[in-house]
Amino acid sequence: MTKRQYVTIDDRVLSGKLRTALAAHLYRESRRLGLSVGASHVVSISRSLLEEPVRTSEADRCPPERLLRESALFDTYHTENLEVHDYLHLVSQEMRKRLGQYVTPSIIVKYILDGVGYRDGADILDKRLIDPACGSGIFLVEAIRIYLAALRRAGVPIEMWYRRVLSAFVGLDVDPVACLYARFNLGLLLSPSILFWADVHPGVSLPPLPIYYLDTLRTVAAELGTPRLFSYDEPSLRLTDSFDFVVGNPPYHKISRLDGELKEVFEASLYGHPNAYGLFLHAGVEMMRPGGVLGYIVPRSMLSGLYFKNLRRFIEQRAALQEITLIAERKKVFENVLQGTMVLILRRRPTPTRLLKTALAHSVADLEVQQMPSARVNQEQVVRHLNGTSIWFVADTRRTYDILDRILGHHPLLSSTAVGCPARTGPIVWNRVKPLLRSDPEDDALPLVWATDVRRFAFSFSSAGENRPSYLKVTPRTRRLMSQGLSLLAQRVTADEQPHRLVACIPEAFCAEHAAGYFVENHLNVIQPRPDAPPIDLYYLLGILCSDVIEFFFRAMNGNTQVSATELNMMPIPRCDREPRIAALARQLQETPDPVARVSLEQQLNEQVAEAYGITPDELDFIQTTLARNHRILENSDDR
Ligand SMILES: C[S@@+](CC[C@H](N)C(=O)[O-])C[C@H]1O[C@@H](n2cnc3c(N)ncnc32)[C@H](O)[C@@H]1O
Repeated sequence: MTKRQYVTIDDRVLSGKLRTALAAHLYRESRRLGLSVGASHVVSISRSLLEEPVRTSEADRCPPERLLRESALFDTYHTENLEVHDYLHLVSQEMRKRLGQYVTPSIIVKYILDGVGYRDGADILDKRLIDPACGSGIFLVEAIRIYLAALRRAGVPIEMWYRRVLSAFVGLDVDPVACLYARFNLGLLLSPSILFWADVHPGVSLPPLPIYYLDTLRTVAAELGTPRLFSYDEPSLRLTDSFDFVVGNPPYHKISRLDGELKEVFEASLYGHPNAYGLFLHAGVEMMRPGGVLGYIVPRSMLSGLYFKNLRRFIEQRAALQEITLIAERKKVFENVLQGTMVLILRRRPTPTRLLKTALAHSVADLEVQQMPSARVNQEQVVRHLNGTSIWFVADTRRTYDILDRILGHHPLLSSTAVGCPARTGPIVWNRVKPLLRSDPEDDALPLVWATDVRRFAFSFSSAGENRPSYLKVTPRTRRLMSQGLSLLAQRVTADEQPHRLVACIPEAFCAEHAAGYFVENHLNVIQPRPDAPPIDLYYLLGILCSDVIEFFFRAMNGNTQVSATELNMMPIPRCDREPRIAALARQLQETPDPVARVSLEQQLNEQVAEAYGITPDELDFIQTTLARNHRILENSDDR
């Protein structure tokens, strides 16, 4: 395999090239607009735009012919038809990963700007917008385009536009090359207004573009925390409580070590491993003025993930949710990454109560036409409190929320005393016990169950054959991790594209055969009754978990690829006289290999479970049609 080479860039060479290209563009524009801004002047302007010290030396003396000969590379750049030049070809994979650098498709950028209400009316003229992770400036370019249209409509003279833009926008990035490109892109976009400004201000140096090379999180932390710990070049730039609009695509990556100061300032939203996008959400809320609006594209995992429970609470306390639009396809949002994303729009409190929009876009293209189905509901229907934490349920119809109301709030949860069967994560992390793994049974070893051994209503021990050791030696350390007795096993990692997110079975014969004990690997959840649990048949729980009702419920609550024990413990379980019938059907499904017979058994199971939840036949039909439709769409989006 050939390794891709990355060019090491010399910043001076790069900025020299961009400066010449920008100067050439400005010069041509000056001639086109009939202005008298000369060659040396445009060179000095492009120098200030890319934020280098303005020099009125020999270096700026430039014969006009040279500029006209300069490559016409950027002449295709028109303000009405923008293509933002990005810098990522200059960045190594390592750096891209470390800083979470990806370009946002312009459809998403436009969708977010529209969603936060950034439209070309007079009401945006005195508002301020920030992109706190601006990269090469795609959000800023689109937003400024809207702002210029609003200035034009309001009859503001063009020579005043540049000044207005400077006070209305801020872009920040921790990568200097990204900042350089953002300035370059903004310089091209704003060239007519810059030239008109220069024409009426001869001899005055151009104020720099509002793109700052700094670490957003540290700057916000410095303002919120103890300022003496940090020092920055831009004391006049205030971020907190300063913006009417905060937009962008923050970096997504786990932060393995968060230093003490950041931890202290962002403490309210942290839990477990911090992710950069969680910190950018927290910082974004702080950057808004009261009543300000934030629009980001972020991973869906924050909807229900345990590590984001404090972030959800922080947002609920400080802001009102305005929109959550899930983007179903995971492959094609960002180049070469598989990432479930969503558009999240919030308004900082205090804010008048409004209905919240929830939607499901099957692809990025759906966002362009904005014709995807959506629901408008109260925030309380989305934000649900279960087992002491909140989960955000996202669906695209009101009817789904009505059905969720029925499932939630009327039944005890799996881990409650009324059910008494908590789920826990399989305790064996195979690479921590590598030396103790065995391929064949031995006297002092017990069987080890892997996730692939568990299928829906089916179990086959050692399904990977010789490729994977199926026994684990019993030692004083592993003995504590052993399971005994009957258990219900459920896979812990399943994706939306799969026909079922809940994949579970009861390995009854296996558990009986290994009464001395067995081990369960940590890609599985184990569900067993507590010793003090009220009588309950595990097959009843299997029938409930594998039903269409719970599949539907789980897909509305879960934003990631995990089926965690925490989430399973939040499953509402009806206690009712249908339990024996549902348990019998689940048992039959596990014992019946004939696919035709299974179809009818599954339908009977689904009907029984629906009745146990008080769901009508009509509603069950709606649930099944929705599941089938969404699955078809996901399958197709995978092939395209
Ligand atoms: C996902 S990219 C988005 C870039 C651009 N906004 C776009 O949409 O195409 C995230 C950006 O955040 C920047 N970044 C990462 N950590 C940062 C930090 N602590 N402060 C400021 N910017 C940061 C990266 O350099 C990168 O340009």
